[in-house]
Parts: sequence; C-alpha cells; structure tokens
Amino acid sequence: MVKKVTVNTIRQYKANNEKFSVLTAYDYSTAKYIDEAGIDIVLIGDSLAMVALGYETTHCIGVEEMKIFTHAVAKGVEHAMVVTDMPFLSYHTDIPCAVKNCGLMIKEGANAVKIEGYSDYILSVISRLTETGIPVMGHLGFTPQFINTLGGYKIQGKTQQATEEILRQAKELENAGAFSVVLEMVPQDSAKYITENLTVPTISCGAGKYCDAQVLVSDDVFGKFSDFKPKFARKYGDMKSLIYNCAKEFNDDVKSGKFPSDDEIF
Ligand code: KIV
Repeated sequence: MVKKVTVNTIRQYKANNEKFSVLTAYDYSTAKYIDEAGIDIVLIGDSLAMVALGYETTHCIGVEEMKIFTHAVAKGVEHAMVVTDMPFLSYHTDIPCAVKNCGLMIKEGANAVKIEGYSDYILSVISRLTETGIPVMGHLGFTPQFINTLGGYKIQGKTQQATEEILRQAKELENAGAFSVVLEMVPQDSAKYITENLTVPTISCGAGKYCDAQVLVSDDVFGKFSDFKPKFARKYGDMKSLIYNCAKEFNDDVKSGKFPSDDEIF
C-alpha cells in the first residue's frame, strides 16, 4: 500500500532534519508522474494562471477554475500531499467565505491549502481553517498576489530588520496553526536564520539551500514554459523542444501520408 504524505510526515521531516520536495502540477497525468517520482507535496499553484493559461499575473484565476485543476491533480496523486493555492480574492473578504472556498478544494481532493501574506485577518483565517480541519501552508517574502503593492518582482528580507520582520510574521503564522511556510525570493542567509528559528518547516522558492524544503514550478523544471526563467529555477528537461519536435513530425507525417500506417487503422 502506498504511504500518504500527511502533516505528520512533514512535521517528522523537520524533526529529523530531512529535506522534502514540492513541485507544482496542474493536470492529471503530470500529477501522476511526479507523484510516482516521489515528490512529497504536489502544489496546484496559482502560477498556473501564468504558465498554463497565459495570463500576466496570478490574479486572473478564481475558485471555480482552481476546483477543476485540484480535482484533476488529486485524481493523479496517491502518495504526495496535495495542496491547493487559494486564488486572489478567495479568502480575503471574510472568514466564512474563506472557509467555504478552502473547504471546496478539500472536497475536490486537496489535503491542505496555501494562502499568501500576513495580517491580523490572515492569522484569523489560518486559525479558523485549522479549527475546521483544513491544514494551511503560509507564504511570506515575495507574495505574487501582492505584486501591485510590492511594486514588482522584488527580493524581500534584504536587511536584518526586514529579516526579523519576516521571522516575526512566520512565527505568528506558526502560532495560528500553519504547518509550513513558503519563503519566496528571500536571500539565503535570511531564510537560514528564519528556518533555524521556526518549529514548522520552511519551503524555499528562491530562498536558498538552508530551508527545509524546495519548491519549483513544474513547467520551469520540465523546460516547458519559456516566456521567462526565474533566476532560482533549474531546468531539468527540454519539454518545449520535445513538444515542438513531436508536433512537427506528426504534421510532416500527416502531410506526407506516413500517418496513419496499416497498424493504426481498423
Ligand atoms: O503559485 C505557485 O506555483 C507558488 C509556488 C511556486 C510557491 O506559489
């Protein structure tokens, strides 16, 4: 029987000082293969608005779309924990609405949700979700849903004071019940300091090697998304060329009459 990654597994990883991996997925078959590869957490990131749907920011995706993508990914995953990134405006207006929208993702097969940012309101949302039985992954540092107030893709936590502030916020997320915290675009030394002073694991998204886990967008890892490449992303394959070459060969075969062959007909 396949052993499912749960919040307890994640806590255990931190206690044992063991690294774990997080990768995004937006569809059934990708989720299935990355699960089989042993990835610990599969994240239906709202990055899908940009890398899968072609929008310029993550703002344009909503609850209904995230339900569909969550359903598809959860169907493909057996071992990993499935986490849905809650989209812009799905948890910001009031707590009952936040609980309902996050609960809808659990009904679609997610095991937890991720929410961005820090405020007294966000802390109340995390507490209420946790009380409701919905584990929450926090997200600090650069938070893409706040791109307009942050003034662009900017590194966060560059000074000692800014690092202390992120640590303070992370501790409050932890006290409110968050089981882990993503640190995005934070200098490695700042992320190290934050990681060493937290009980819950930190997940680096461009925050260096001392975090407890690493997350990347799968389309960057596969070499599929090519509009831009974040400095911290590593490309492990060339899916762009693979897709191009397969499509080109199919196109040529159709036009030259090589497809279908006698084996491919009834
Ligand atoms: O949307 C996303 O994919 C994310 C991760 C990269 C952390 O938030």
